Amino acid sequence: MFLDASDLRRAEWERWQFNAIRFLVLALALSLIAWLVVRMSVTRPMARMAGWTRALRRGQTTAPLEMSDLGLFGPMAREVTVLAKSLHRAQAAAEEEATLRLSGETQWTEERLKQFAKLRLGEAPLVVVSNREPVRHVRRNGKIVAETPASGLVTAMDPVMRACGGVWVAQGSGDADRESADDRGRLRVPLDDPRYTLRRVYLTPEEEAGYYGGFSNEGLWPLCHIVHTRPQFRPDDWNHYRAVNEKFAAAVLEEIADTESPMVLIQDYHFALLPALVKRARPDSRTAIFWHIPWPNFESFSICPWQDDLLLGMLGADLIGFHTQYYCNNFLETVERAIEGRTDWERFSMTRGRHTTYVKPFPISVAPDFVDEPPATSREALLESLGIPSAEFLGVGVERLDYTKGLPERFRALGRFFERYPEYRERVVFVQLAAPSRSALPRYQEIEAEVDDVVSSVNAAYQTKRWRPIVYLKRHHDHRDIYPYYRHADFCMVTSLHDGMNLVAKEFISVRGDDDGALILSQFTGASSELRDALLVNPYDVDAMADAIRDAVEMPAEERRSRMGRMRQSVREQNIYRWAGLLLAELRHIPEEAADKGPSASLAPSAERST
Ligand code: F6P
Repeated sequence: MFLDASDLRRAEWERWQFNAIRFLVLALALSLIAWLVVRMSVTRPMARMAGWTRALRRGQTTAPLEMSDLGLFGPMAREVTVLAKSLHRAQAAAEEEATLRLSGETQWTEERLKQFAKLRLGEAPLVVVSNREPVRHVRRNGKIVAETPASGLVTAMDPVMRACGGVWVAQGSGDADRESADDRGRLRVPLDDPRYTLRRVYLTPEEEAGYYGGFSNEGLWPLCHIVHTRPQFRPDDWNHYRAVNEKFAAAVLEEIADTESPMVLIQDYHFALLPALVKRARPDSRTAIFWHIPWPNFESFSICPWQDDLLLGMLGADLIGFHTQYYCNNFLETVERAIEGRTDWERFSMTRGRHTTYVKPFPISVAPDFVDEPPATSREALLESLGIPSAEFLGVGVERLDYTKGLPERFRALGRFFERYPEYRERVVFVQLAAPSRSALPRYQEIEAEVDDVVSSVNAAYQTKRWRPIVYLKRHHDHRDIYPYYRHADFCMVTSLHDGMNLVAKEFISVRGDDDGALILSQFTGASSELRDALLVNPYDVDAMADAIRDAVEMPAEERRSRMGRMRQSVREQNIYRWAGLLLAELRHIPEEAADKGPSASLAPSAERST
C-alpha cells in the first residue's frame, strides 16, 4: 500500500498560511484601532497642549484650553493652565517693569509691590483684617459655588494680597463657607491660583446682627456718612461689637503667634477697637487701621455714646489712614477735643503716654487690570443680551443698593433729562447694576422700595413701545459681568450723597483703554478731588444733574478723549499697589515700641463702662 500524504501536508500548509494572514489582518486592525485611540486621546490632546504652551512661551495671547475634550489629560491640563497663567503674569510683569524702567517712570506695579513687600516684610506674613471676605462659598441650586462679594474693599485689597501673600482674616459669611475651609477656617485663595491664606472667623446670628447690622451699619455707617439717616446706638449692639472685635483679636493673635514684629493692616469701621486689642497683647507688632468711609467733624461724631472707647481703640494703632487730608483733619480735631493727649498738627500725630499714633491720607485705588482676560463681548451682543435693539447712547451705574449712593436722585435726574431734552428719548438707555446689600436692615429695605418706585415711575412716564429709558438689573454681578458695561458705556454715573472714595469711578476709568467715555461724578466723593476731569455734580441738584447727562452725551469726541486720557493717567499712577506700598513703607518707618513699654494702659477701651 502506498499512502500519498502530500494532500494533508498541503492542507496543513494552507491552513498555516490562512491563519497567518488572519493573524496579520487582525494585528493590522488592532494596531489601527490602537493608533486611532492613542491619536484621539493622547497624541492630539498632547499636541494641542504643546501648541498652546508654545504659543504662551512666545508671549502670544491664547484662549484658555478647553478642558472638556482633553480626556485623560483634563487634570493635568488644569494644572498646566494655572502654571501657564502664572508664567504669563510673571512675563507680563517683567515686560511692564522693563518698559517703565526704560521710560524712567516710577509707577507702582504688582511686581514692584511684591519685591517691596519681600524686602520689607522678609518672611513675616502680612496680616490683613476686614469684615468682608474676598471669596464666599454659597449654595446655588444644590451646588456650592464661590463668589466675590460686591465690595470696594475687596476690589482694592485682593490685588494687594495677591502681590504680598500672607493671611487675610475675615468674617465667613457664605452659607457654605464652613465646608469649604479646614477646621480652623483656613483655605488658600484665589481658588484657581492660590497666593495667600484666607482665615474665616464665624459669627453667631446674634453677633452678626448686633455687630454688623446694628452697631456698624445702623450706628457708625450713618454717623460717618451724614446723609440724614439717623444713627441708632443700642447698648446691646455695642456689646456685640466689642465681643466680635475681641473674637477677631484672638484670631489675629493666633495668626501672628510665631512671627516677630508682624505687620497688621486692619480695615474699616467694623474694627475700631481692634488696634488697641492687638497692640496690648503684641506691642512689637506694627499695626495700622485704614478707615474706608468718611470721618465727620467733631460735633457730628460726638453724638456717639461710645466715642471715647472707639477713639482709644483706634489710637492703639501706630498708623491711622483715611482717603483724604480732610478726613485726617476731622479725625485729629475729634481726638484733640475728646481725648487727653498731645496732638501734633505738624507731624499729624497724637501721643498718649509713650505711644504715638500717626494720621495720614492714603487715597485708595484699583489695580490697573479690572479683570484677567477680559470678556470680548461686543456692544451689539451686550445690548442684545438686554433685549435692547439699539441705543445711540448707553449710560451705566454700578452700585450696592445703599442709601448713600444717591440712586433715587440719579433716576429722578434721568427723568428730568428726558423731560427737558425730549430729542434724546429713544436714543439714550441707562443700565443700572445694583447689588442688594444689608437687606436685613429696615433702612435698606426702604431704599430698595424707593429705588423700585422711582425706576418704575420714570419708565412709565417716558417709555415707548420699543424703548425703556432705565434697565434696572437688581442682583449680584461679578467683575467679569460688569466689565462689558464699563467698556461700552458712553457715560458712567456716580452720584453718591457722600462717599469715602468710590472705586466704581476708578474701575470705569481703568477699563477704558480706548480713552473714551464720560464720567459724571458726585462732588461729595473722595474720588472727586483726584478726578477733576469728570463732570462734577451735586447729586441733590436734579436740574444740574440732568444738564450733566446732556453734557456727557454731547461732549465732542476730542474733549472726551483728552479728559479720559488725563483721568486714566492719574488712575494708572495712583494705583492700589502704590496705596499699599506707601502705607507699608510708612508703617515700617514707625519706630518699634519696646515690648516692656507698649501702648499705655489708657489706650485700652473701657470694658467696664460698656453699657
Ligand atoms: O467701603 C465701605 C464698606 O463698608 C466696605 O467696608 C465694604 O466692603 C463695602 O462698604 C460693602 O459693604 P458690606 O461689606 O457691608 O457689604
